[in-house]
Amino acid sequence: MAISDKKGFIRAETMVKPVPHVPEIQLHLADEAMSLWQKTEDELGDLGLPPPFWAFAWAGGQALGRYILDHESEFLGKTVIDFACGSGLVGIAAMKAGASHCTAIDIDPFAITATKLNAQLNEVTLEVVQADITDKVPQEVNVLFCGDVFYDQDMAAKVLKFLDRSLAKGTRVLVGDPGRSYLPKNRLEHLATYEVPIVGDLEDLEMKRSSVFELKTDITAQ
Ligand SMILES: C[S@@+](CC[C@H](N)C(=O)[O-])C[C@H]1O[C@@H](n2cnc3c(N)ncnc32)[C@H](O)[C@@H]1O
Repeated sequence: MAISDKKGFIRAETMVKPVPHVPEIQLHLADEAMSLWQKTEDELGDLGLPPPFWAFAWAGGQALGRYILDHESEFLGKTVIDFACGSGLVGIAAMKAGASHCTAIDIDPFAITATKLNAQLNEVTLEVVQADITDKVPQEVNVLFCGDVFYDQDMAAKVLKFLDRSLAKGTRVLVGDPGRSYLPKNRLEHLATYEVPIVGDLEDLEMKRSSVFELKTDITAQ
């Protein structure tokens, strides 16, 4: 399978399975990260590729997906962004909950293709965009979802600045996270916690406690 055929590669290297904590949604999921990562790098001849985040339903994304489907009225008719969409799980949940429009954004071209395939699989329409929007003016939407992005210090700092600009535009920012190292804990209002089964080998545990929070404006910065 030539990797330039991203759709074919994703179909060949994953299986369609329900998301453990959001079984209403099916995704193209991998069982094992390392061999998939190796295969992607071997075929592209590029040793600096990011891990195949798009082939897993991350604990943060699963918590957000569960919260969205259990609180549909909060999202009915809303415009939303699934920021750092990975597989597209969160955006798909939002559209299933009745959101009027979802832009799913990621920097990884494989995530873009996986999100398109997964949207099709779940019979929802997403606008899927490959971009790094963290240094851009945020789009005006009702809700921005941010699933599992606080695992890297530089990225977390960049993302938080962008989220602050989104809050300033009146966007509600919901974060799904299992307590990663750079989660801005002092800025979060807790909404829900779930015990989330993990698919694949990217985590140290098979179950993770993962929560949904609402990001609050930093009053100390005003
Ligand atoms: C751990 S995965 C989470 C995926 C998904 N939100 C979930 O919870 O299942 C992190 C994602 O962030 C994406 N990412 C990293 N930096 C980004 C940026 N600057 N803008 C958009 N996406 C980014 C990665 O490509 C990856 O898909």
